[in-house]
Amino acid sequence: MPAEHLVITLDGPAGAGKSTVAKALAIRLGISYLDTGAMYRALTLKALRLKMDLSDEEALTVLARNTKINFKEMPEGSLNITLDGEDVSVAIRALEVTNNTYYAARTPGVRTLMVGWQRAIGTSRSIVTDGRDQGTVVFKDARYKFYLDADLEERVERRYKELTAAGKGINLDQLRVDMKERDQKDLTRSVGPLKRAPDAILIDSTSLTAQGVVDKIMKLIQL
Ligand code: DC
Repeated sequence: MPAEHLVITLDGPAGAGKSTVAKALAIRLGISYLDTGAMYRALTLKALRLKMDLSDEEALTVLARNTKINFKEMPEGSLNITLDGEDVSVAIRALEVTNNTYYAARTPGVRTLMVGWQRAIGTSRSIVTDGRDQGTVVFKDARYKFYLDADLEERVERRYKELTAAGKGINLDQLRVDMKERDQKDLTRSVGPLKRAPDAILIDSTSLTAQGVVDKIMKLIQL
C-alpha cells in the first residue's frame, strides 16, 4: 500500500485492455480500481429499463441527478457497481447497454455529474481509474497517466474472445463495425472525448499481454 495518496489514470479506446490492466495494477498496489465506463453503463441501463428517449439530454441529466451509483467492496477485493442499491455489475455488460451508452457519454449534464462523483471517489482513496477522460478532464493532476492503445484488429479479436468466453454469441464482422463506430463516437463527441493527455505515457498493447502492460507500468511508476 503506497504511503501517499495516489491517482493513476488509464485512458484509451475499447478493447485496448484497460480494465484488465487497471484491475491487476490496483491489486498489485493495494489500492482501488475505479471503472468509470461502468458508471455511464449503469445510467444507460436505468434509462433503458424506463424506456426513456436516450437522445433527450435534459431528461437523461435529470435522471442522473436522481440516481445513486456506488461501488461495493466484495470479499475477493473487487468493486461491484450498484445502481440505486442494486448490484448491476452483470446487467451493464449486455450488448444493448454497450451499444447505447454513447447517449449518456455525450450528454454534458451527465458528464458533469459523473466527473464530480469520480473526483469524490478519487479524493477519498488511492485509485487506478480507467475511462476516456480521466487524464484529460477528471484527474488532470494525477501523478501518473497512461494512454493504452492497440490496433483495431487486435482489439476486435480480444473483445470477440471475451464475449465468446462469456457465452455471448457474436458475429465478428458486426463486432468490428460496432467497435469502429464506438471509437468514432468516443473520439468526436464535444464533451470529454477520448484523447491522450499531453503528459500521458502512450503504451501500445497490440503485441503485449495484459501482464506485460502491468509490468511495464510498474517499472515506470516509482513509489
Ligand atoms: O469502457 P467502457 O466500454 O465500459 O465504456 C462504456 C462507454 O462509456 C463507452 O461508450 C465510452 C463511455 N465512457 C466515457 O465516455 N467516459 C469514461 N470515462 C468512460 C467511458
